[in-house]
Amino acid sequence: MAEPRNRYSSVSLYLHWLIAALVVVQVALIMVRDETEGEFARTLLNIHKSVGLGILVLTLARIGWRVANPAIPLPEPMPRWQKLLARGTHVLFYVVLIGMPLGGWAASSAAGRDIIWFGLFEWPALPIGGGRELAGQLMDIHELGAKALYVLIALHIGGALKHHFVDRDNVLHRMIPWIPRRP
Ligand code: HEM
Ligand code: HEM
Repeated sequence: MAEPRNRYSSVSLYLHWLIAALVVVQVALIMVRDETEGEFARTLLNIHKSVGLGILVLTLARIGWRVANPAIPLPEPMPRWQKLLARGTHVLFYVVLIGMPLGGWAASSAAGRDIIWFGLFEWPALPIGGGRELAGQLMDIHELGAKALYVLIALHIGGALKHHFVDRDNVLHRMIPWIPRRP
């Protein structure tokens, strides 16, 4: 069924906020891990891997949903460069949220490390060799991805707040529906 043109479906909203929360969890897990050692640090990394692969699946589902449902136009008065920046940020989010988990998965596979998804089942390894050297290179890219992610988050939240407090339009309302709609 076609979506109304001026609001996100609840599936889009749940996926947006679930993935956003999981991204914060991902960064927090690594920050805590950096301060810990031994078995606990290994457990945190395993959770990081499991959550990351969860983000991969959810992001693919989200893109599928997005393709099946028409995009909502940004407010008419927005200048073209701002629309491009907003949409570009969204596209890059999708690229990073697929690239980072894929890269982490590939690194684990190259290094011959098993991933037991939340201790429940063995996540299949990708058929790649390359050993620890390739794994190290992939992790360098993972680190770069993390930096890109921080820039995107800053742009995205900055943009959302600008819409709400400067432009005073309904862009934030359509992602947080309990914020009252402006006339
Ligand atoms: C790491 C956290 C986040 C990620 C990865 C993320 C990602 C995204 C993506 C990919 C979209 C585009 C949706 C589409 O395909 O149409 C989007 C839309 C949006 N996000 Fe986020 N987001 C995050 C956090 C936030 C936060 C904290 C806010 C609020 C302060 C926010 C506010 C919005 C708004 C208002 C939109 C709608 C833009 C529009 O209507 O076109 N996001 N977000
Ligand atoms: C969207 C999903 C993911 C996000 C946002 C994410 C984010 C991060 C961040 C921010 C770091 C720290 C980088 C730094 O040193 O500055 C990191 C490290 C790491 N990530 Fe991920 N990650 C994701 C998915 C994965 C997956 C799926 C795996 C493996 C299957 C993985 C394995 C690792 C490993 C091994 C490290 C290095 C840990 C350490 O040296 O302490 N990540 N990740």
